[in-house]
Amino acid sequence: MNLKNGCVYTLGCDMGNLPVPRPFLKWAGGKTQLADALLERMPLAFNTYHEPFVGSGALFFRLYRERKIRTDLSPSAILSDLNPELIDTYIAIRDSLKEVISILSEFPHSKEFYYSIREKNPWDLTLPERAARMIYLNKTGYNGLYRVNRQGKFNVPFGRYRNPKYFDPENLTAVSRALQEVEILRASFETVLERAVRGDFVYFDPPYAPLSPTANFTSYYADGFGLSDQERLRDVAIELGKRGVYVMLSNSDTEVIRSLYNLPDFTIHEVLANRAINCNGAKRGPVTELIITNYLAERNFALRSCSMF
Ligand SMILES: C[S@@+](CC[C@H](N)C(=O)[O-])C[C@H]1O[C@@H](n2cnc3c(N)ncnc32)[C@H](O)[C@@H]1O
Repeated sequence: MNLKNGCVYTLGCDMGNLPVPRPFLKWAGGKTQLADALLERMPLAFNTYHEPFVGSGALFFRLYRERKIRTDLSPSAILSDLNPELIDTYIAIRDSLKEVISILSEFPHSKEFYYSIREKNPWDLTLPERAARMIYLNKTGYNGLYRVNRQGKFNVPFGRYRNPKYFDPENLTAVSRALQEVEILRASFETVLERAVRGDFVYFDPPYAPLSPTANFTSYYADGFGLSDQERLRDVAIELGKRGVYVMLSNSDTEVIRSLYNLPDFTIHEVLANRAINCNGAKRGPVTELIITNYLAERNFALRSCSMF
């Protein structure tokens, strides 16, 4: 039995005894680095929190840690994404935590085991097995990439990590607790229109528009996320605004995104992000990114924000 500070790994422990939840996956475009800038520009108060491109959920976990998620509401948050394995992993951690932890505890760290489990078809496994496989491959595979081939088969090679932390029962326990009142859905972003109501807050973190036509940065998922998707997303953001829903969105600082949101409905904030989004190492380093809101951010960012052209 695992004991930490007198707290057994069950969901009955009180918050004081549990570690705080952090993202349990590495995810391309993860927002840990931008979290401060996002937090500064959020609405001060809101009801249910929606994150329709949840990925590793960096902002959700940060908000939970900062006690900004309304845990008195049910659901307190609605997290969704188009990636079915990702969504099943969240659901398994929420509903079958013990099984996930027990399966992961049996997994050795070896190249041989990595390729044997990578070979398995996730849809032949049980929900907790599928989640354990996803966490293991994500933490031990090359660069924490999620990449599937045309047949939908995960094809990331073994990573060269000395001591990857794929078995982290403390964090998974904290994550499970944070997810208890959370609705988790496999859905495309526009379905948020079926759920969000006045006073709710929606944070959109879509696959970014490429900085240059050659930047291969949008293929999170077999179908990619093209210009027409970015346009649909902008239209969803406008519609949410008409309904009194707070919307915040992050995206790359490109002409395309600036012109899409160059409307009276939106405020465009430029922020510096230290992100390696360019495959050319020489071009890595701070780049500007855009945070777009459909409300005036509560603090005065007038000097730093830029309302376009
Ligand atoms: C930039 S990542 C989100 C990163 C996340 N904010 C984090 O902190 O890890 C974009 C996510 O959008 C998802 N996605 C791609 N197309 C989508 C769609 N049409 N609807 C919903 N999610 C989609 C991908 O599976 C990916 O997880």
